[in-house]
Amino acid sequence: MSDPITFAICGCGSRGLEAYAPYQKRHPEQMKIVAGADTRPERLRLLREQYGVPEEMCFASDEALLSRPRLADVLIVATQDRQHVPTALKALDLGYHVLLEKPISPELDECLQLQEKAHETGRIVVVCHVLRYTRFYASLEALLRQGAVGKIESIDAMEHVGYWHYAHSFVRGNWRRKDETSPMILAKSCHDMDILRWLAGERCLKVQSFGSLDYFNAAHAPEGAADRCLNAGACREKCPYDAEKLYITGKDCSLSRTRGGWPSNVLVSEPTEEKIMDALRTGPYGRCVFHCDNDVVDHQTVNLEFAGNIHATFTMTAFTDKVYRTIKVAGTQGIVEGDTISNKLSLRRFGEEEQIIDLTTPPGSLSGHGGGDSGIMDQLCDLIRSGGTEGLTSVDASVESHVMALAAEASRLRGGQTIDLDAFRAE
Ligand SMILES: NC(=O)c1ccc[n+]([C@@H]2O[C@H](COP(=O)([O-])OP(=O)(O)OC[C@H]3O[C@@H](n4cnc5c(N)ncnc54)[C@H](O)[C@@H]3O)[C@@H](O)[C@H]2O)c1
Repeated sequence: MSDPITFAICGCGSRGLEAYAPYQKRHPEQMKIVAGADTRPERLRLLREQYGVPEEMCFASDEALLSRPRLADVLIVATQDRQHVPTALKALDLGYHVLLEKPISPELDECLQLQEKAHETGRIVVVCHVLRYTRFYASLEALLRQGAVGKIESIDAMEHVGYWHYAHSFVRGNWRRKDETSPMILAKSCHDMDILRWLAGERCLKVQSFGSLDYFNAAHAPEGAADRCLNAGACREKCPYDAEKLYITGKDCSLSRTRGGWPSNVLVSEPTEEKIMDALRTGPYGRCVFHCDNDVVDHQTVNLEFAGNIHATFTMTAFTDKVYRTIKVAGTQGIVEGDTISNKLSLRRFGEEEQIIDLTTPPGSLSGHGGGDSGIMDQLCDLIRSGGTEGLTSVDASVESHVMALAAEASRLRGGQTIDLDAFRAE
């Protein structure tokens, strides 16, 4: 086996340090992290302590890291949404391959600029549409390509964001405002646009969308609500979004439930109950969900037309108890449907017995996103070793889903107007 592939990480937050870096622990023969950058010193300390990256290779910003000649084979770009493209362009010029967190950018111009630079430099750019690397979606795509349901006619997909995940990330957290990060349909559902495009196997031609931020605003604050949950009155008892309930005592994402992992470790590094309570007293995650500065939608639907007369519907909603996705693909010879909680597909070819395809794996055998976080790293390493450039989620494929998402947002803002994607790109 040749030497491990070397990696530098820009943005050692949840994704950089907890989704991709752990691959080194499982596959030291494949990955060696040699440098990193973050504006938060405690994240760099974790990089040093957990991965042995020397002090002189830990930088206080992406700019500082990129002011040096190329330090590694691959740069992982896991900063916030609007920081990705400038970093990735510079990295490609320096000769890095790039593993780029989604979304590429909320600006279509920047997406196209990156696509052009990737082609010009001939470097690998893999965008982190991790769902394609899960057993669930990979098996579904393989079934469809084998013609299991005949010609695909319609697809129906739903993203159940989960009430607590929505409150955490999209009301109190980093993705609550589209001017700071991205509109919801891009931030959360560019994965779904990518999956629909991939499963349809055809270009998307037109989209139409409706949606709004209906609930998480001052008009819905119960009596006794305050700026922070810890200062509120009796309304806390019945409020499922109460911050102490979510992060300390509740059953869905409390410290005991997450065992110190996500999302507890977004509030504070190396969380304890005491540190979390402090964060709820002073930080953004202790705010009342009806008194935040959020503006992204809490539910949205999209209708999509693909070439070949394939039509799809997609719904993203905050208002679900669990966090998962469902999908149903109907074709001329049968129908297949499944969900990412049971991890089972039900294939019913017309006139034949139902087949259940069980895609569950033993607990603990997969990393995050149903194995997608680790699957994307496997494929990136294979791609680099084989000298290829076209990954499963290369920049070309990814730009298509970004155009779909951005056009859906434009449609929503124009009251559901149908948007032709070629015209939208050219606009
Ligand atoms: N692929 C997926 O499924 C998936 C899931 C969640 C998030 N994301 C995306 O991943 C990206 C990162 O998300 P996250 O949850 O890790 O966020 P995060 O805030 O935890 O991490 C971002 C890190 O970047 C650091 N940073 C900020 N400015 C910097 C700079 N100039 N130089 C270097 N570091 C800097 C921050 O201090 C932080 O540690 C986002 O774009 C997000 O949309 C992707």
